[in-house]
Amino acid sequence: MSEQDQTLAAAANWSAPHLSIVVPTFNERGNIELLVEKLEAVFPQMPFEVIFVDDNSPDGTAELAKEIGQKKPWVKCIKRIGRRGLSSACVEGISASNAEYVAVMDADHQHDETVLTQMLALVEGEKDLVLASRFLDGRSAGEGLSRFRELGSNVANAIANLVTGTKITDPMTGFFMLRREKFEQVAPHLSSEGFKILLDIIATARNKGVPLNIGEVGFTFRARHDGESKMSPLIAAQFFGLALSKMTGGILPSSFFMFAAVGATGVVVHLIALTIASSWMGFNFTNAQLFATIVAMTSNFHFNNMFTYADRQLRGVNYWKGLLSFYAVCAIPAIANVSVAAFIFETNSLFYFAAIAGIIISIVFNYAVTRIFTWRV
Ligand code: GDD
Ligand code: MN
Repeated sequence: MSEQDQTLAAAANWSAPHLSIVVPTFNERGNIELLVEKLEAVFPQMPFEVIFVDDNSPDGTAELAKEIGQKKPWVKCIKRIGRRGLSSACVEGISASNAEYVAVMDADHQHDETVLTQMLALVEGEKDLVLASRFLDGRSAGEGLSRFRELGSNVANAIANLVTGTKITDPMTGFFMLRREKFEQVAPHLSSEGFKILLDIIATARNKGVPLNIGEVGFTFRARHDGESKMSPLIAAQFFGLALSKMTGGILPSSFFMFAAVGATGVVVHLIALTIASSWMGFNFTNAQLFATIVAMTSNFHFNNMFTYADRQLRGVNYWKGLLSFYAVCAIPAIANVSVAAFIFETNSLFYFAAIAGIIISIVFNYAVTRIFTWRV
């Protein structure tokens, strides 16, 4: 049979997928072909699809995925341009599915694809969501995680269980399956920031009163097949932001906590700049204060652009435009801050209370306004 005939035959045999397997990818070119073969071996009879969601990887993962899809029409690829982020990639992949059941797994072969059949049997039964746990029955993540990551993972698990109010052995796993209908119910309330989509789904279901019957199956976390991990301190910081956000019932977005943390570093930068300007550069207090304010605003802008808005970083000329708009926006609460603080101070004489109230008001204002004008979220 010619290649074209094979493709036509495959298309003629096509039936709607029972399961969609969403695989987020960033620089996974060396992993995806073999992954598709492994998945075919797991489900030789059942119609399923693989949806790669690639953030325009420089190594050409998306191009290879599309090439595979030309021969195997059940392999699809969503190529996102100008955006990065694991959670939002998963959300987009699941949203593209029309199957009754959806799974999410990594591309790097760390997730044992053979447990997918057990997971499917459970969600076809009474479970709404089944996660593949690295720690069920006293397992440890073995060669898949370094000592340091294992420690970090334990701390994160404890926080995650606090947030979700559940007792699951691996709330941070990136390998799970659920009924799409349940996903649709929580989807409008997901934050889609950061790395932790499963945690977000479970915590959101809880906050919104969506019942979720959760099951677990164990698997052994393998070493990465090819390429390298995208886990980073930034991603860990985003996790804490997400956990705090979920603790407020989702009222405050996780990026707000990042913004506030950057703001806190700005206070330190301000005090250092103030000291340098007044004692070494000989500025009078007002000028030193002005100088320190500009230095702190600049560093706040830079770190917010790097961390809080890592997924929509301003670069090149947009960086400088963003900086100017950041100055302009921050000048308003700086003035308001001083007047509010002065007002509270005059009426109550509570010096620190006044200062803190002023700072909180500025952070909320700066967050809300720069989000719109500087980073255009
Ligand atoms: N589209 C997209 N965009 N995919 C991404 C991005 C991104 O910004 N970042 C990572 N990925 C993809 C990777 O290509 C891989 O397929 C998968 O997401 C997991 O990324 P890894 O970089 O391999 O993460 P890890 O192995 O360190 O972390 C895994 O284990 C953690 C538990 O320790 C993931 O499964 C995590 O979700 C899990 O919490
Ligand atoms: Mn991995």
